[in-house]
Amino acid sequence: MADPRITNGLKFRPFDIIFLVFVSDLAFAKIHYSIREEMEPGAFVGNVAEDLGLDIRRLSARKFRLVPADKRQCLEVNLESGILFVNKRKDREQLCGQMPACLLSFEIFVEEPLEMYRGEVEILDINDNSPSFPESVILLQMAESMAPGSRFPLESALDADVGTNAVSVYNISPNEHFGLKVETAEDGTKLVLLVLEKPLDRERQSSFQLMLTATDGGNPPRSGTARILITVLDINDNAPRFDSNVYKVSLIENSPRGTLVVLVHATDPDEGSNAEVTYSFSNRVSQKIQELFSLDPRTGEIRVQGTIDYEEGDNYSLDIQAVDNGSPAIGGHSKVLVKVNDVNDNAPEILLKSIASRVPEDAAPGTVTALINVIDRDSGKNGQVRCDIPKNVPFKLQKTSSGHYKLITSDMLDSETTPLYSIAILARDSGSPPLSTNKTIQITVSDINDNAPRFARPMDTVYVMENNAPGTSIFAVTASDPDQDQNSYVTYSFIDNLIQNLPLTNYLNLNSMNGTIYALRSFDYERVKNFQIQVQARDSGVPPLSSSATLNVIILDQNDNAPIIASPSAQSGSAGVEVVPQSAGQGYLVTKIIATDADSGQNARLLYQVLKATDPSLFIVGLNSGEIRIARGILEQDSTTQRLVILVKDNGQPSLSSTATIHFSILGNVTEIFSESSNLVRNPEHVSDINLYLIVIFGSTSFIFLITIILLIGIKCKQDRNSPEVYNSPSCCDGLDDSNNAFDPRPTLKESLNYTGAGEIIRIPDTHHYSVCLSPESAKSDFLFLKPYTPSMSQDRC
Ligand SMILES: *[C@@H]1O[C@H](CO)[C@@H](O)[C@H](O)[C@H]1NC(C)=O
Ligand SMILES: *[C@@H]1O[C@H](CO)[C@@H](O)[C@H](O)[C@H]1NC(C)=O
Ligand SMILES: *[C@@H]1O[C@H](CO)[C@@H](O)[C@H](O)[C@H]1NC(C)=O
Repeated sequence: MADPRITNGLKFRPFDIIFLVFVSDLAFAKIHYSIREEMEPGAFVGNVAEDLGLDIRRLSARKFRLVPADKRQCLEVNLESGILFVNKRKDREQLCGQMPACLLSFEIFVEEPLEMYRGEVEILDINDNSPSFPESVILLQMAESMAPGSRFPLESALDADVGTNAVSVYNISPNEHFGLKVETAEDGTKLVLLVLEKPLDRERQSSFQLMLTATDGGNPPRSGTARILITVLDINDNAPRFDSNVYKVSLIENSPRGTLVVLVHATDPDEGSNAEVTYSFSNRVSQKIQELFSLDPRTGEIRVQGTIDYEEGDNYSLDIQAVDNGSPAIGGHSKVLVKVNDVNDNAPEILLKSIASRVPEDAAPGTVTALINVIDRDSGKNGQVRCDIPKNVPFKLQKTSSGHYKLITSDMLDSETTPLYSIAILARDSGSPPLSTNKTIQITVSDINDNAPRFARPMDTVYVMENNAPGTSIFAVTASDPDQDQNSYVTYSFIDNLIQNLPLTNYLNLNSMNGTIYALRSFDYERVKNFQIQVQARDSGVPPLSSSATLNVIILDQNDNAPIIASPSAQSGSAGVEVVPQSAGQGYLVTKIIATDADSGQNARLLYQVLKATDPSLFIVGLNSGEIRIARGILEQDSTTQRLVILVKDNGQPSLSSTATIHFSILGNVTEIFSESSNLVRNPEHVSDINLYLIVIFGSTSFIFLITIILLIGIKCKQDRNSPEVYNSPSCCDGLDDSNNAFDPRPTLKESLNYTGAGEIIRIPDTHHYSVCLSPESAKSDFLFLKPYTPSMSQDRC
């Protein structure tokens, strides 16, 4: 803009005068003007003619003209008035650039006389340019690890103006980290440096945007800005960090494979690969645990990959690490605590520590029979076990202080009622659902000899028909013993007693194994009608128990005795004579036959009958009484001697009989009584029988004698071999002439027919017995064999 004073006329200006004077002094003096740049066209610069002292009126005449020194001319002169003015707006920077002084030279010519003048116009700078940066955005990258004091050169700003109007000050927007330093180089150029004042942390601030301002010294000052964009480059200076220092998780045992246990996560504030995290178990995690759990290196998922068994381990500590991908890599650590929750997956186990498989039946209540341990591998309620046995056994469970169970008897035992107990032990835990186990143990109640043998009938009656065959069994006693085995093994024996002062064993033999009683000889009812024996049954326990039975042996009668006529007594060779007075009337009791029968009962009930009579009409005999009475009055013509044969017979089956012969003498009025001895004569047939019997007896006795000799020799031989002591070897043929002997020591007639040998019992101490054996043939051939008998040979072959 032109100075208005200059623009307004040719006024002289003080600083122009100097030039004027200077110009006036010399013909070639220069005239000098100063104008500011950017003057409007037409702006007044100076009145050249006047300043040169030229006559304005003659200017045309003198051909006044102005010649610019170069083509950049932007000045023009009014040839009429000599006024220099701006014809074109001029920018100093355009004209002169960075030249410190911008001078436009010109020459003025006039003729007549020719004169030349030099002149110049200095274009003065005005602050019409702002500083500017080559780039409006300055991009910078720096590693966050850059040390404070590091310097980053920036491009300086440009200002077209010069001098004070050029850039004088740089500023940077306020920030924590960066400062600015401007250095002037030797050539005067300014170096602008960005200085790091405080360490960077990309993780805190990864970029900065700063404003760089350059301000010039003009008035008013002008300024230009540039944006500095700073990117902080990452350095792997951060370890990955887990979300939690400890992950506490719980896991149900038996969780299936693949169950997510926990998701661990670590973050790394770095970026890029420095923030790429890989998860893994630390080396401290045992191989075993690594088989149970898997850790996904990318996602951080910890999953079940093995069998989680609470009983194997109820907790696991997994040290985990996360490593970034930087170089060098940095790792972060954490820990996962896995608590396993128990599931009731184990049934209780019943362990028999010891068992007394046999308990004696006399064991007192409280006797320990088994020691049981019950374990459950689960914990808590799942491992709380209750143990029970059925109520209906005489056993109970008792818990010991050490947690075991004792199986003890709770009652008396009896092997006879229950020899074996199967006890089911049931163990049940308290889990839900509960699991249970049962185990059956067998306890044998061992027998104790606590039962004596018992006779089926402790009091019994044995009927034996007299004249029995020797060697036949007459009875069998049996006793049972509820004990077992040895304790129930019963043997029989007579309790040593006498029959009629003779040892019982003379008459009876007892099979000690099965209780069969044999008669060794015939019994004669007429000698003994009954007797008692006592049999003992004894078991083989230790000590043995025994009991006894009483047998009432009753001999049954057989009709083996014929009636015996006692009166009228038969004198040898003559029959009795009874005198009957002639006057005796009907019903007169002449006499009475007295007869006896050694048998008893019906066998001894006698009946009397007339067998033969001289005059059958004269006498009658009382059938039962035996009284002989007159049947009718005695007549003259009746014979005075009468003979009567009376048959006396018993009522046995078959009956036996005898006859009595009575002679009667009938006397008329005679008081003297002749008594003809009535002749008691046995039946003639009978007599002949007796003769036969005598012959047989003689023969038999000789034969028995012979047999006895043979047997004695045989026994002697056996004695020599076995040296048994023969306690008792009475032969039935031995002299048994004791008058008190009820039994006939000699074989009776009938005995002799069947009984030809001596039954002998030879006892050998302890186990060896000889028992009488009758073989089927022996019954016929009448041989008795002696056989050794041992208990083991219970089934005798004979
Ligand atoms: C963890 O398990 C170990 C054995 O594996 C055991 O000694 C420890 O007592 C357990 N800790 C807890 C709190 O259950
Ligand atoms: C014991 O176990 C057997 C099979 O082992 C079963 O039949 C019986 O019912 C069980 N008893 C109880 C009381 O659980
Ligand atoms: C007893 O044993 C004997 C000899 O072994 C035998 O002959 C007899 O029949 C048995 N008696 C009984 C009742 O078993």
